[in-house]
Amino acid sequence: MSAIYITGGKPLSGSVRVQGAKNSVLPILAATLLSGGPCVIRNCPDLLDVDTSVRILRRLGCRADREEPGAVSVNAAGMDRFEIPETLMREMRSSVVFLGAILSRAGEAVLSYPGGCDLGPRPIDLHIAALRQMGAEIREEGGFLYCKAQRLTGCDIHLGTPSVGATENVMLAAARARGTTRIYNAAREPEIEDLQNFLNAIGGRVAGAGSSTVTVEGARHLGGAEHAVIADRIVAATLLAAVTLTGGDVRLTGARPGDLDTVISVLAKAGCGITSGGTEIRAKRDRAPRSMGRICTMPHPGFPTDAQALVMAAACRAEGVTMFSERIFESRYGHVGELLRMGADIQVEGRVAVVRGVAKLYGTRVCATDLRGGAALAVAGLAAEGETVLSGLTHIDRGYERFEDTLKTLGADVKRM
Ligand code: EPZ
Repeated sequence: MSAIYITGGKPLSGSVRVQGAKNSVLPILAATLLSGGPCVIRNCPDLLDVDTSVRILRRLGCRADREEPGAVSVNAAGMDRFEIPETLMREMRSSVVFLGAILSRAGEAVLSYPGGCDLGPRPIDLHIAALRQMGAEIREEGGFLYCKAQRLTGCDIHLGTPSVGATENVMLAAARARGTTRIYNAAREPEIEDLQNFLNAIGGRVAGAGSSTVTVEGARHLGGAEHAVIADRIVAATLLAAVTLTGGDVRLTGARPGDLDTVISVLAKAGCGITSGGTEIRAKRDRAPRSMGRICTMPHPGFPTDAQALVMAAACRAEGVTMFSERIFESRYGHVGELLRMGADIQVEGRVAVVRGVAKLYGTRVCATDLRGGAALAVAGLAAEGETVLSGLTHIDRGYERFEDTLKTLGADVKRM
């Protein structure tokens, strides 16, 4: 079993380019199913979840290849299947956004419940209810969804929660539906805007992404296009949290500072000097981090749940008390037990975690239990005394492109064996 070995104690310095966003590229790859022509997706990170999407597309009869580094070409003209095998469905959560696209394209879809990080219950009731409202017949049996729709019809959909995946699924189903779909209480994450931009590039008529109402006018035919996915704000947040903890001076290029306002203001409170301009962010920290007060995760533009574990790693060494309140997922503190093994002082009660900064963290054997929690353990390892051995790397490889190389570029003592 491979592991990342980190010898902590070195400040980070240097410059890295932020990879393309996992949570953008996955729904965009699903959206290529709607297109009648060739699509090239650029700034595409090299991740296990991208490989899974490519395997799903091929399984459905599409051509999908990584012809050059950083780009995936898809031609969905030959799509001739509408089923995703359970093994592929279980590899990631995003497999569920193929549902809207397959149903719209083929009039039929069979898939099982999706996998993905274990963050407590992750229902898909909003996805199913919305597609039913658009005219789909959906039967749930033995963990499978059997779906049919002659042609989906646009309507007004009110989401009970601004779910990212449900918003994406409805946008995909609506892009070729009859009439207009309006999604109220839509998720406002930057990845929704990126999906809108891709759909419009292939000839769709989508507006409002980034606000809480997204309008999709169905189009009969969608063509091919080239599209570059946006920078991954959570990978950027990971590196900013790491500098806040280790100290140093890091420049991130190819980033979108505006997507990170809440994370930047929290890390600034900890004493990290963060400046940005255009597509660059510079983070400098030369004193011990301070407490960050109270942090509540919220849907965008609030503080992202995906950055909770990463900022918690920095809080473990911050002077004073930092309190986290996880409002999105029921159980997103899987990393806490492992941080405790490294000497952190954290108390969890329900959805609240209270972190009292300690003078030292210690390297030990730890295991990633989910994607961001795993990255948080690596961040903690960068500032720990001695060696941290981090296993469970399939979680990390689902979302971080050659993570250890990125950290090495910034001067960290890291190797994968
Ligand atoms: C997306 O997951 C991201 N994944 C997650 O990133 C991210 O943590 C999450 O949005 C929140 O920002 C991808 O984009 C692939 P949701 P998603 O539907 O779409 C409830 C990472 O680390 N809900 O917005 O699954 C749900 O239980 C990952 O990169 C329902 O009740 O999240 C949760 O409490 C992890 N019914 C809340 O809504 C539904 O039908 C938000 O979930 C759907 C969701």
